Amino acid sequence: MANYEEVFKKVVSHSKEYGFIFQSSEIYDGLAAAYDYGPNGVELKNNIKEYWWKSMVNMHENIVGLDTSIFMHPKTWKASGHIDAFNDPLIDNKDSKKRYRADVLIEDYISKIESKIEKDLQKAHKRFGDQFNKDEFLSTNERVLERTKKIKEISSKMNQYLVGQELDKVKELIEELDIKCPVSGTCNWTDVRQFNLMFKTQMGATADSATDLYLRPETAQGIFVNFLNVQKTCRMKIPFGIAQIGKAFRNEIVARQFIFRMREFEQMEMQFFIKPGEEIKWYNYWKDQRIKWHKALNMGEENYRFHDHENLAHYANAASDIEFKFPFGFKELEGIHSRTDFDLNAHQEYSGKKIKYFDPEINESYVPYVVETSIGLDRMFLTVLSNSYKEETLENGESRIVLKIPHVLAPHKVAVLPLTKKDGMPEKAREIIQSLQLDFKCLYEEKDSIGKRYRRQDAVGTPFCVTVDHQTLEDGTVTLRNRDSMKQKRVLQLELHAIIAKEVSLKNYLN
Ligand code: GAP
Repeated sequence: MANYEEVFKKVVSHSKEYGFIFQSSEIYDGLAAAYDYGPNGVELKNNIKEYWWKSMVNMHENIVGLDTSIFMHPKTWKASGHIDAFNDPLIDNKDSKKRYRADVLIEDYISKIESKIEKDLQKAHKRFGDQFNKDEFLSTNERVLERTKKIKEISSKMNQYLVGQELDKVKELIEELDIKCPVSGTCNWTDVRQFNLMFKTQMGATADSATDLYLRPETAQGIFVNFLNVQKTCRMKIPFGIAQIGKAFRNEIVARQFIFRMREFEQMEMQFFIKPGEEIKWYNYWKDQRIKWHKALNMGEENYRFHDHENLAHYANAASDIEFKFPFGFKELEGIHSRTDFDLNAHQEYSGKKIKYFDPEINESYVPYVVETSIGLDRMFLTVLSNSYKEETLENGESRIVLKIPHVLAPHKVAVLPLTKKDGMPEKAREIIQSLQLDFKCLYEEKDSIGKRYRRQDAVGTPFCVTVDHQTLEDGTVTLRNRDSMKQKRVLQLELHAIIAKEVSLKNYLN
């Protein structure tokens, strides 16, 4: 396929054409960085949520769920540090008047060097063929070594300046690297300033009596303030976790790359409460669990990597991202953070209420430590959509676009298609749907030739098509077509439920 940008553009337009994602308020020319999920999108999104929820809550007897409100007492955000420290460094180009995140400008510069390494790799692979040893090449090729060294130097400087709040040095680094504004092409930059990402709003009928509130920038704080409620009412014993899926809001300086960075998005977060001193053990445990969860979807082991943080958030003593190879390069998909006792301690202090756990095993009370796993639902959606989009040339020379979405996540599991609109075939097809629809999301389609209908189902990622024809009416068999292999086989209508159940079962992924 052509270059990555082109592929990404195709994924974006495909997602609109086939009812996955629409621009928010499109009839008013849209609202930047806000998106609506269409009929196919919402099914895929719900399936991702279920895949996550079941792996966290159903499969761990010591993890329970929660659904907290978006509005929280304003003191929450003072305690959590978000009012004082939830900032991004912004910089403007004086010529184009465009605004950028200073760290993202530098990261984009690093990504360009990374893609040069990738190109070197591909060239060498072509040249040496099967003899090619990737690890040896990466550790010996001089040009690659030079580029890797440069990446390390730049990120280490950037991290050091960001942690130390040395914003003038961040600007100097941008100038030193000769990073130009993509719009004006100049290096005429303003100073770097901090910008708080929280959305402010008001609660109350009149301006005088109104209370300033923030839309939550992470779902985690709803979990922290409910720690004792959950622990006591469900009689939870440490170690235990609380999981939540919900909306979060961030006034991102630059929101772009489709649903990758939005101002309103959804998170799937789990806070795991542990005994102080055990955080590194649990941090490693959750890193391992989470990467396994991703890889179980079979979207390519090579598309995942860890990125351990040097520049730690104000609450963490260890942190790592699981990065995924999006069409625009490796980017953060999920964060695993060892958050220490920072949040519970801060809420104790600001609320004046004790938040301690009495540990019967050691006869002592303490403020638990926390390891968090936090994944963006929309980003996860984008990984599935972009990874499953394939353009294929078929044996007969025709081409097809197919979304090879993992079966368990596919918006619809089966489409039932009567060959023609007469002779009782539509009725038979509807009878089949009735026998399947309680367990699997089904579609019925009777318009156009069977070939066109297969293509439409390929384009929305439906793993199975069932065709009802004259023979069905005679012997109760149907044609079952597989989306990926396009192979068809004749099976008994009565066998359909069992065949599909086996193919789309969560058991194939989580165990
Ligand atoms: N509670 C920790 C926390 O919120 P984070 O790394 O800031 O950590 C966690 O966010 C995840 O949320 C990210 O890995 C990403 O998948 C998702 N996320 C963050 N900002 C986002 C945005 N503006 N748009 C979409 N997803 C976002």
